[in-house]
Amino acid sequence: MKSKKFYIKTFGCQMNEYDSNKISDLLKSISFEKIDKMDEADCFVFNTCHIREKATQKVYSDIGKIKKIYRNKPKPIFVLAGCVAQAESSIVFEKSDYVDIVVGPQAYHKLPELIEQFIAKKKKQVDTNLSVDDKFDTLQHLNSKGSKVSSFVTIQEGCDKFCKFCVVPYTRGPEYSRDSRNIIDEIKALADNGTKEIVLLGQNVSSYNDSNISLAKLIKKIANLKEIKRIRFTTSHPNDFDDELISLYSEEPKLMPQLHLPVQSGSDKILKLMNRNHTRVDYLNLINKFRFHRPDIQFSSDFIVGYPGEKDSDHQDTINLIKEVGFSLSYSFIYSQRPGTPASNYDEIPRKTTMKRLEELQSILLKQQLEFNHYMINKENNVLFENKTQDEEQFFGRNQYMVPVFVKNNLIKAGEIKKIFIQNASRNNLFGKLA
Ligand code: SAH
Ligand code: SF4
Ligand code: F3S
Repeated sequence: MKSKKFYIKTFGCQMNEYDSNKISDLLKSISFEKIDKMDEADCFVFNTCHIREKATQKVYSDIGKIKKIYRNKPKPIFVLAGCVAQAESSIVFEKSDYVDIVVGPQAYHKLPELIEQFIAKKKKQVDTNLSVDDKFDTLQHLNSKGSKVSSFVTIQEGCDKFCKFCVVPYTRGPEYSRDSRNIIDEIKALADNGTKEIVLLGQNVSSYNDSNISLAKLIKKIANLKEIKRIRFTTSHPNDFDDELISLYSEEPKLMPQLHLPVQSGSDKILKLMNRNHTRVDYLNLINKFRFHRPDIQFSSDFIVGYPGEKDSDHQDTINLIKEVGFSLSYSFIYSQRPGTPASNYDEIPRKTTMKRLEELQSILLKQQLEFNHYMINKENNVLFENKTQDEEQFFGRNQYMVPVFVKNNLIKAGEIKKIFIQNASRNNLFGKLA
């Protein structure tokens, strides 16, 4: 029998990227072949994101594009996975009859069964069960052939924080920490395949806890693995850092001096309205604690602009906080009303105002990013090299602060850490030569 071909498209965050790799492994385990050409698939998987309205709209408009491609061909099986699948499970088929299978972020390990059922019964399938245990048990037995220098490993799922604007607690379910032994086994297998850097993933990794193994303890265990040279984690909530984790920055050289620590707003009033449960001063104090333990640590953040109730003075508080901290990288978004979240009942502020505020905020954040990259010029960075660029002209790696570094050199090998003398910088990249 001709083997079936699948095409997978990933939207949204790094957790979805991790999940898409696992979904691919699952489909390969039932003899599906992964392809990169959109017009030759027997099965499509869209692993989706629901975080802002635009993200969700994009999913449905892309389904429309697939439908067009296959107008005169046999219809592929269409799987809608991820956060839109979870949040809109009851209305997906109304919004797009093209979808055959709806599967949530905690149920995708059932995909082989769901596909089998769909083929056998020609009946649409839905699984949006939010219980996670089952999932990691099944995934544990999968034969994964990842061979990346830097690999993601999900250690924690879901969120109990319920920030008033956010869909994640509804799409990913309650907080759940994976079995630490299970995580170490997965990392050992990745290390055997050439992984040198581990990026631990979760919606709130800093609240990781598996029978008293905290994130700090887990990082120490990972650092004991000889082949693993670098450890990072993302995303963290400012409220979940204990002293053990903070002081690890002065003790553990494998823990990289770059931390994504979203603050969303610099205004106490807005932080309260968002239910973030910390103040601006709490955030600044935390930043100072990290800097005490690792003076060169760099921070990145997320910002929401134009949250309901945000006045010019609140916006100014955010600008001031940005100036006070100095971020090496940031993501900023205009507030997007999400169905089912508490903030969706609040009055929105005019688009013109939010656009203006976003522009102002982004211009400062971009300036900081550029300044930070320029500061590296004429300095030596430790770069972990990942791969050659597509034109084979340069080697791509990342420095300790996660900034992409490009070097023209034929002697470098993937997986090596080299000292690089930085000669030039752009907004997003650094360029240098072997030191
Ligand atoms: N768990 C992470 C981030 C999750 S979502 C955390 O707590 O930091 C990633 C980012 O999307 C958030 O940090 C926030 O800045 C943004 N975001 C979430 N919901 C949003 C909404 N309704 N409108 C605009 N941006 C949103
Ligand atoms: Fe969303 Fe807040 Fe949870 Fe982050 S901490 S995922 S922003 S609810
Ligand atoms: Fe999006 Fe879901 Fe990640 S909503 S940001 S894909 S957790």
